[in-house]
Amino acid sequence: MGAAAAATVVKKEDVITSHPQNNVSENIFLKIGTNLHHRPDHPLGIIKNAIFDYFEQKNPGKFRKFDDLYPVVKVTQNFDELLIPADHVSRSPNDTYYVSDEAVLRCHTSAHQAQLLREGNAAFLVTGDVYRRDTVDATHYPVFHQMEGVRVFEPEEWEGAGLDPTEYAERELRAELEGLAKHLFGDVECRWDTAATFPFTDPSIELEILYNGEWLEVLGCGVMQQSILEDNLAAGGGKKAWAFGLGLERLAMVLFNIPDIRLFWSEDERFLKQFKAGDLTTTFQSFSKFPPCYKDMTFWLSDEFTENNLCEIVRGVAGDIAEEVKLIDEFTHPKHGRTSNCFRITYRSMERSLTDEEINKIQDQVRADAVTKLGVELR
Ligand code: DAH
Repeated sequence: MGAAAAATVVKKEDVITSHPQNNVSENIFLKIGTNLHHRPDHPLGIIKNAIFDYFEQKNPGKFRKFDDLYPVVKVTQNFDELLIPADHVSRSPNDTYYVSDEAVLRCHTSAHQAQLLREGNAAFLVTGDVYRRDTVDATHYPVFHQMEGVRVFEPEEWEGAGLDPTEYAERELRAELEGLAKHLFGDVECRWDTAATFPFTDPSIELEILYNGEWLEVLGCGVMQQSILEDNLAAGGGKKAWAFGLGLERLAMVLFNIPDIRLFWSEDERFLKQFKAGDLTTTFQSFSKFPPCYKDMTFWLSDEFTENNLCEIVRGVAGDIAEEVKLIDEFTHPKHGRTSNCFRITYRSMERSLTDEEINKIQDQVRADAVTKLGVELR
């Protein structure tokens, strides 16, 4: 029942392949198997264990916990089994890391729902690292961590309550997750956004909490699409389930007041020493503020150019000193119709001062890579 913390061993050739669709980069490969959520003293481990405690107190022994499922999954697991349409944006290689045309680095922990139902699980929590190609800023990092929850109900349960199955599952879901928000954040006000849509739930809803005067989205959830239950769980057609998915970094940034998502990857004692297993009360104190360094680059766009592709190059060259990549100017030439973009790249280390020399070298390499890998024309 306990969440075993076995190491995930991933070989480079398992994720960086010669397949034409492969777009996993070296620095992404290097993150696989780190499993920050396995560390009880790390903010992500602290949040994960607090969520486990909540579910355990409310439903002793009910939820089976999965903590180390392999992050390379089939395209069918990540998308098809969740009824994500063939033309959905999240399937694009601009957004998702493809190992081949048949396998991806999971972009959400929902990728394990169907498989775990098929294995006969009716109540479970899955925590893991997930991967998305994205922009560079304080809240986006190409690897982050999610927790997925699923609970299946039997007809006796909704019949006993005198409710129809969907109403019953939704009522239980709301109560369970409002309780979770209060367990983590104290006596916060909660509200539900019913305009949300996910292909795998109906209805779909999002939980928001009022925290320090601001409404914050905490998680997405809903009543599981009946066909997912029917197709995967034995006799699932006659049952009903809820599902939710939440981002651990997002919750930890709010709860501990962590200002930048890169900090989760820091091995700096001045960061790590501030957190203690089981303690949700830490307010992170910035240990120092090093100056940012801004570099602008302007270029004519190419067919291969996308903002995510540029961000991948910046991360590949600069690693965690890449703080932000931001479009600051866009212009289309009136005569020849080509479009030019100007991006401002902010470099800053969380741990030390950077020298002009090292930044200039990095920026030169970013410019060179943008030309050779994306075919843009520098101005
Ligand atoms: N997989 C969704 C995401 O990454 C989150 C999510 C939403 C998970 C609703 C669920 C759910 O299980 O029911 O954005």
